[in-house]
Amino acid sequence: MAQRILVLHGPNLNLLGTREPHLYGYTTLPELNARLSGLSSSLGASLDAFQSNHEGELVDRIQAALLDGTDFIVINAGAYTHTSVAMRDALAGINIPFVEVHLSNVYKREAFRHHSYLSDLAQGVVAGLGPQGYEAAVRFAVQYVQPA
Ligand code: DQA
Repeated sequence: MAQRILVLHGPNLNLLGTREPHLYGYTTLPELNARLSGLSSSLGASLDAFQSNHEGELVDRIQAALLDGTDFIVINAGAYTHTSVAMRDALAGINIPFVEVHLSNVYKREAFRHHSYLSDLAQGVVAGLGPQGYEAAVRFAVQYVQPA
């Protein structure tokens, strides 16, 4: 059975490509998801991507991962990274391994972006590598779930 990876994108990431490109680049969300799907197929895994601007919808999707056979989650929770106890509790509650990704280097930015409610639960954190950070996380996920 192909390993299943879930990629979660939080608020405002639907605006990628036009949103503050000096921070987030010019790759759109559909382009990013297509790249990640192609990468995961080439590695023999399947990938589902979900974006929402709503905290509760993201919590619902995290909980649904328990029932749909998700093996690993790659998550960019956007601003909810810095605010959401609910998303933290959802990820802790399902106990599926995950990597936290940020396109920008949050540590080079405002102090309020330096704290994450997710990092201490994550297998790893990638920040500042743009779309390549997601690609590294997907490669890590496949390797983690199915060691060579
Ligand atoms: C982000 C960083 C967050 O601080 C910000 O709120 C985002 C995007 C990133 O990918 O760099 O929405 O998660």
